[in-house]
Amino acid sequence: MQFDVVTIFPEFFGSILACGLLKRALVGGQLTVQLHDLRDFTDDRHRTVDDRPFGGGPGMVLKPEPIFRAVESLKAGDPAGNVPVILLSPQGRLLRQPVVEELSRHPRIVLICGRYEGMDERVAEHLATDEISIGDYVLSGGELAAGVVMECVTRLIPGVLGNEESALQDSFGEEAIPGQQAGRRVLDWPHYTRPAEFRGLCVPEVLLSGDHAEVHRWRRRRALEKTWRKRPELLADLPLDHEDRKFLEDLKQAPWLPVSPQQG
Ligand code: ADE
Repeated sequence: MQFDVVTIFPEFFGSILACGLLKRALVGGQLTVQLHDLRDFTDDRHRTVDDRPFGGGPGMVLKPEPIFRAVESLKAGDPAGNVPVILLSPQGRLLRQPVVEELSRHPRIVLICGRYEGMDERVAEHLATDEISIGDYVLSGGELAAGVVMECVTRLIPGVLGNEESALQDSFGEEAIPGQQAGRRVLDWPHYTRPAEFRGLCVPEVLLSGDHAEVHRWRRRRALEKTWRKRPELLADLPLDHEDRKFLEDLKQAPWLPVSPQQG
C-alpha cells in the first residue's frame, strides 16, 4: 500500500510516521508514504499556494494549479490511472469502518490536505475522485485527517498487526463468523489484565474460570450490552441470533442487573 500525501506541511507527518503502527508498517515494507510539498509545484519565486477569494471576503483560498500539477505528476507514473484521489475536507463523506475497508483494497491512494479557509472548488469537482471527512467538526487543515486515514487503513493491511484477529475483533470490525454477511458493527467487549483485584475493583470472575465457552458467552453479551448502552442505533444492522435477542430483551427489562454468563 502506498499513500501519496499532498500538503503544505510535510514536516507535520514526521512524528506520526516515526512511531507505532505506521512506523512498523513502513519498516516492514507493507507501507510506503510519499510526502509531496505543495510549494514544490508552484511556479513563482515566492512559491505561492494561495490567493484571495473571488467575490471578496476574509481568508485565502488554495490555488488550483499547484494541486492539479502535484496530483497529475504523481499519477503520471501510474498508467492505469485509477488511483483514488481523496480530498480531506469537512464536506466529505464520513470516514467509518466500511469506508476504511473499502480504501484498504486499493494498492495506492493520493491524499490531498486542504486548508479550511478554502480550496478552489475545481479541485473537489474536477481532480478529486472522493472527498472524506473524519468527523462533523472543523480542523484548520486536512493533515490530521490524512494521518487518521493512513493509520486506520494501514491497520487492515495483512501482516501489519501482530495478531490479525485483533483487527477482526475490534469494535466496528467484521466479526469472524464464517457464512455471515458483512456489515455487522458491534462494540468491543471489555478487556482486563492483571491484577485480578485493583483497589477493591475485581475482574469479572468468569474471566478467571478457564471455561472458554463461558468466557465466549460473557464477551458476546458484554459487547451487546455495551452497544445497546452506548450506540443503540448500531444494533439495527446487527444479525442477532435467538440467544442474543433474548439477552437484549432481558436487558431492556432490567438494565440495572449485572450481566452474568449464565443469564439468558
Ligand atoms: N479538514 C478540515 N476539517 C476536516 C475534517 N473534519 N475532516 C477532514 N478534513 C478536514
